[in-house]
Amino acid sequence: MNNKIHVLAGLQWGDEGKGKIVDMLSKDYDVVVRYQGGANAGHTIIIDGKKTVLHLIPSGIFTNNIICVIGNGTVIDPKALIDEIELLNKDGIDLTDRLFISKDAHIILPYHKIIDAINESKNDKIGTTKKGIGPTYFDKYARRGIKFSDFDDESVLKDKIKKNLGYLISIFPESDELKYLNSTDLFDELKTQYSRISSYFEQTHYLLNKFISEGKNILLEGAQGALLDVDFGTYPYITSSSPTSGGACTGTGIPPTVINGVIGIVKAYTTRVGEGPFPTELFDETGKEIARIGVEFGATTGRPRRCGWLDLVALKYAVIINGVTEIALTKSDVLDTFKEIKLCTEYELDNKIINTFPSNPFVLQKVKPVYRTFKGWNTSFSNTSTYDN
Ligand code: IMP
Repeated sequence: MNNKIHVLAGLQWGDEGKGKIVDMLSKDYDVVVRYQGGANAGHTIIIDGKKTVLHLIPSGIFTNNIICVIGNGTVIDPKALIDEIELLNKDGIDLTDRLFISKDAHIILPYHKIIDAINESKNDKIGTTKKGIGPTYFDKYARRGIKFSDFDDESVLKDKIKKNLGYLISIFPESDELKYLNSTDLFDELKTQYSRISSYFEQTHYLLNKFISEGKNILLEGAQGALLDVDFGTYPYITSSSPTSGGACTGTGIPPTVINGVIGIVKAYTTRVGEGPFPTELFDETGKEIARIGVEFGATTGRPRRCGWLDLVALKYAVIINGVTEIALTKSDVLDTFKEIKLCTEYELDNKIINTFPSNPFVLQKVKPVYRTFKGWNTSFSNTSTYDN
């Protein structure tokens, strides 16, 4: 098998610039696939000065003839999907025979967003995007989730929505918003939405494995990043899916034996949105300067991103668990004007030096970064086109 089956994954807390790199690399692939997450992601692509933010459809859609697939590991808000399809159609991008969505992807229903907001109103909040991501995966793993394949038997689907809503009202009795929902209305709304997008759905695991046997090159595009992974991230301050390369298999039905490359995306400094430990976070003018020059605001929520120096302890950890074979470094130009640039090479914990990434977020909260300081390059690389330069 000579075709490229590559995963592209974020190595930090998301927002590493994955969308831009996917867009750049797309010409080398026939198919681009999203394997986890949902509309919590925001991939910003700027083409000829026009900025588009995609939340669900892979960034490869801007490259002519590329086929885009949204895999079974994702969670989909039908309304967000319809909006995105319409946005692309308006831009003259026809998705017929170019977009395929897994029937096994789980559906984000209005009650999931309500529960996300209720959870976030409590003291121990995570700082989620409130897009209903966590509650939808919660239903998936509790074995009561609703998939697009449930439309194969509408009476069962209707009943599932009724049962799920009843259950949620019983565990969140204080929520008037939940009480106002009516399961028949929810079903009718979902059915109307589904009728607009049903042509895109199929068993994409068969389709993807057919593409592999036909010799097509496939890029599996992760959302968020390794440090937000449900298993390897700073739990519980994580997203509820598996952005690391392992998630690319379970989220698509592409077997691990065919994956022959993992491209890790890393920003020249670090950012994080939402709560949770962040050892190299800067609270001073330097942090503000990085945020200002790097325009560090969330693509989905508009929230300001926390900024800090590049953390090599965390990066090494992310490289190991993803099996990274190549790295793409983004946004180094943001640091063009800095006199000094710091890299965290180790942590100090209780007067000892460690070089592994602690599993416990409260331990991670306590570590002090050990830095090596470098003189800034103080020049712009934007016109550099040769390797030696
Ligand atoms: P959720 O994915 O909305 O449940 O949010 C869980 C955590 O992941 C929060 O800290 C979010 O800020 C973070 N998060 C989710 N999606 C992204 C993203 O695309 N970029 C950066 N952080 C994200």
